[in-house]
Amino acid sequence: MDGGKMAEGRRCCIWSRRHCFFCILVLAALLFFYSTNMKEMPTDWNPRQWIQYTAPKWWKQLNGHIRNEFNTSRPGSTSQLTTAAAGFTSANNSVVFPQTENITSTQVTNVTITTLTTNARAVPTPAPYVSPGPYLVEYPSEYHFLINEPQKCEQQKPFLVLVVPVAPQNRAHRDIIRNSWGGESLILGRVVSLFFLLGLHSGEGGEQLKEQLLQESKEHQDLIQSDFVDCYKNLTIKTMVMLEWLDSYCSSVSYAMKIDSDMFLNVPNLINMLISAPKTNYMTGLVASEGAVLRDPKSKWFLPVEVYPHPVYPRYALGLGYIFSLDLAKKLVEASRHVKAVYIEDVYLGLCMQHLGIPPTNPPNWSYFNVFPVSYSRCAYSRLIATTTQENIDRVWIWKDLKKPGRTC
Ligand SMILES: *[C@@H]1O[C@H](CO)[C@@H](O)[C@H](O)[C@H]1NC(C)=O
Ligand SMILES: *[C@@H]1O[C@H](CO)[C@@H](O)[C@H](O)[C@H]1NC(C)=O
Ligand SMILES: *[C@@H]1O[C@H](CO)[C@@H](O)[C@H](O)[C@H]1NC(C)=O
Ligand SMILES: *[C@@H]1O[C@H](CO)[C@@H](O)[C@H](O)[C@H]1NC(C)=O
Repeated sequence: MDGGKMAEGRRCCIWSRRHCFFCILVLAALLFFYSTNMKEMPTDWNPRQWIQYTAPKWWKQLNGHIRNEFNTSRPGSTSQLTTAAAGFTSANNSVVFPQTENITSTQVTNVTITTLTTNARAVPTPAPYVSPGPYLVEYPSEYHFLINEPQKCEQQKPFLVLVVPVAPQNRAHRDIIRNSWGGESLILGRVVSLFFLLGLHSGEGGEQLKEQLLQESKEHQDLIQSDFVDCYKNLTIKTMVMLEWLDSYCSSVSYAMKIDSDMFLNVPNLINMLISAPKTNYMTGLVASEGAVLRDPKSKWFLPVEVYPHPVYPRYALGLGYIFSLDLAKKLVEASRHVKAVYIEDVYLGLCMQHLGIPPTNPPNWSYFNVFPVSYSRCAYSRLIATTTQENIDRVWIWKDLKKPGRTC
């Protein structure tokens, strides 16, 4: 409790009961405003609007509250009210997450003075494990590489690095990519490197799979494995580990693309687009703008108001395939220290980009990136950059067909 305020409280009590009441009212008002209205406050709140619309409502509430307080409080009694303020966005637009505050009304010299205490949790070492809950992931955290290719970028000096996140047991997808669009390392005179990013297999057969992966790595030198648990919920960890890896081992590369393992990629078209693209602070793909936050708990990408209070997300490039200039790897890792890691990986990168003040760029042509499968024709596939594919389509055959010489359209 603030000694100054207490002294002030006492001083005005000397005047008269009416003055005293008024003084308390003002003190309580300030504190109650803080606790009650911060959570309702929009990002871009405007004091004038607030006074116009919110203040009268709040004044009514306050009056009720104070009246209750005077009716029910007995000398020495303590009423406690705990509010968990919902996460809100601060002035620089980074996401700030809930902090628990206690508002305690205590009887001091038989006068109710409301004080606000903040739980400043000074945790002694070592901090016990706290689950981040269903909507956040264990990041930042120190993950380690179990399989790595630390020298490959240095040796090959690629213009473009393709990173495909894939489950450890999903060798079939890796082979399809190696035998189709990911198989060439020199395209239009530019060096392209391909890597698969894996986490830890969580189910049965871990030991056997470990052996197989080491063998596969020896054969292809394109596996990167980190020690976080590989599952859908942990995709944000995977993406951030990818950025850490790129920053550590490929920092002189110009561009990187993260692309899902079920996509088809036209690498020559991608390189043509990148040749005239910005060299720094550049991210593109299928950019969602004003993407609605899904509030139906049954939705695959549900996010509750407590975790993200705004109705729409900042601009973000859809996770199926996005490209960025390599300088962003370091910047995004740094930004992630200030933005709580929500489990929706592409949205999370969007939040980090917002923190950096760098909006993702629209692609030069909206037909380049496709979230709905484009059915195959030489003409159609010769014009796009990336598309999802139908489940049982033969991507190796498509790639061979597309590569045949002759007219495409
Ligand atoms: C103030 O409260 C104390 C108990 O905490 C009580 O003994 C005392 O009589 C009260 N004084 C007045 C003026 O109400
Ligand atoms: C806040 O309130 C909770 C629940 O009543 C209590 O456990 C906690 O110790 C309080 N914290 C402070 C700083 O008063
Ligand atoms: C995600 O990975 C972390 C680190 O390995 C792990 O502690 C956590 O259990 C994983 N989440 C799920 C849902 O498996
Ligand atoms: C975009 O691509 C479509 C289909 O390939 C093409 O018809 C159109 O002219 C392109 N637009 C621009 C601005 O390049």
